[in-house]
Amino acid sequence: MRRSILLGLGSYVPDRVVTNEEIPYLDERHERRAEVQTETSDAWIRTRTGVEARRYVPAGGSMACSDLALEASRRAIADASIEAREIDCIIYATLSPDIHFPGTAVFLQSKLGISGEEGCACYDIRQQCSGFVYGLQMADALVRTGTYRRVLLVGAELHSHSLDYSTRGRDVMVLFGDGAGAVVIGPSETDDERAGVLYTRVGADGTGAWDLYLKVFEISKAPYVWYDAADREQNLVKYPQMNGKRVFLHAVRHMVLASQRALSETGLGWNDIDWFVPHQANLRINEAVTQYAEIPPEKVLNSIQLYGNTTAASVPLTLDHWRREGKVREHDRVLATVFGSGYTWGAAIFQI
Ligand code: COA
Repeated sequence: MRRSILLGLGSYVPDRVVTNEEIPYLDERHERRAEVQTETSDAWIRTRTGVEARRYVPAGGSMACSDLALEASRRAIADASIEAREIDCIIYATLSPDIHFPGTAVFLQSKLGISGEEGCACYDIRQQCSGFVYGLQMADALVRTGTYRRVLLVGAELHSHSLDYSTRGRDVMVLFGDGAGAVVIGPSETDDERAGVLYTRVGADGTGAWDLYLKVFEISKAPYVWYDAADREQNLVKYPQMNGKRVFLHAVRHMVLASQRALSETGLGWNDIDWFVPHQANLRINEAVTQYAEIPPEKVLNSIQLYGNTTAASVPLTLDHWRREGKVREHDRVLATVFGSGYTWGAAIFQI
């Protein structure tokens, strides 16, 4: 039987570490000023979210989302011991694309040096913080049906350029960081029904769409950009808007249900799972999910303390982080669960 397996894993974060202590001093280009710009504190951020630091790209525009994806992809491709030209499909999950269109997968393809007349399939998917599990479901299906043999699935986000670095935007701004994670997925002929990608299920509830969104423009209106983007009073549309309390409650509920369903539908128990990797939105969310879903706390992997919320990148970035630390090993089985804007959610069980 053909199953899909993870052939390689890689991640990348930019060099600049932004601690909670530095956050109040950042101006709208996330450059440090002498005077306080935003009323917030390390104590508030740490206790309400668990975030201690995050990574940002340089302020000058030298790095795009596809550059973050490129570094993570190169590492995943090297880890898979294949050449970039063997990739026959790219699935790119992001809510922070390089430009409006074309999608960012084609920019990544070109930067990987594998574009041209025989260039591979390129998909862009959204699904925000749930992008990795949505993409894994697609990759799994495409590999198992024999459509593609080497799928590069990458989740990458460049948040730092689109956050509101003022007291007005502090509830959202303190949460997010830049980063990328990637996996290469390919086929394996095996009778082992638990090998590789064992389970994926995703869902969505569009009634929650306006609880976490970023407009930038409304294409149903003309002109569809109607504000002065340089004017802080007018440019609310440029920044993410969030009903934090509602998102929090729905995140806990859906991640608990998705995790429990993953186990009941596969017949697995926590003895069969090495690691639980929840999306990294808020440490308090993950602690609540761990408690309500009765997950052994020693199996839970978090990285939000170091990287903040990196949206579509958070699951592969967390896994790769803990693999580098020597905790996660080859063939370990992971239950990942995600929740994000949309609302969207999902769970997956797979082997590293
Ligand atoms: N620094 C200091 N104070 C802040 C702050 C910050 N960064 N952000 C908000 N506050 C203030 C609020 O203004 C409010 O002040 P008030 O009581 O004087 O009105 C107070 O802190 C409490 O705000 P509240 O929004 O009730 O806090 P909270 O406990 O709900 O925490 C979040 C806010 C955003 C951390 C929390 O709601 C959350 O994590 N939600 C989910 C977010 C998420 O996961 N998003 C991604 C989903 S994929």
